[in-house]
Amino acid sequence: MPAMENIAGNLFLIGLMGAGKTTLGKHIAQILNRPFYDSDQEICKRTGVSIPTIFELEGEQGFRDREAAMIDELTALDNIVLATGGGAVMREENHRRLRERGTVVYLHACPDVLLERTRCDTNRPLLQVADPLAKLQELYNVRDSVYRSAAHIVIEANRQNCHKTAENLLQAWAQKQA
Ligand code: S3P
Repeated sequence: MPAMENIAGNLFLIGLMGAGKTTLGKHIAQILNRPFYDSDQEICKRTGVSIPTIFELEGEQGFRDREAAMIDELTALDNIVLATGGGAVMREENHRRLRERGTVVYLHACPDVLLERTRCDTNRPLLQVADPLAKLQELYNVRDSVYRSAAHIVIEANRQNCHKTAENLLQAWAQKQA
């Protein structure tokens, strides 16, 4: 494990659905003994309903408004690990808040890998389509450059296990702050 004494401040994970933001975020929070948050889970806790239900009742726009308010609230905390919803950085205000209030890490994975990890999932409204691979490819085409512009660090999350990815991330983060 890299030297942890260099690691300070918030860690914000961004990337497409299925990149592993939540799994990795929990793991890193445990290693660093810090609070972990997932913006989607916090929205569900507050509203008492699932993400698909919010999309159904309020549309994607309604969800995005809730998401922006949640990102603003969570990024104002100190020394947390946050997994953001995959679309969060697409809104300018979220992009800015994430970038200004912590270290942003883009977990990069390719659409075919993302498909494997999200295949049986019914909790992601954007992927409930006839061809989820095409949808992931389309989102990747639009978002990859936005994730890269928001990120201070880019980590490959294609095939590696969570422990190895965590090690790479902590190493890159420590180096950045050294
Ligand atoms: C979305 C990603 C989801 C969730 C919502 C929309 C997106 O979060 O916020 O379904 O636009 O990519 P995860 O990235 O945690 O799956």
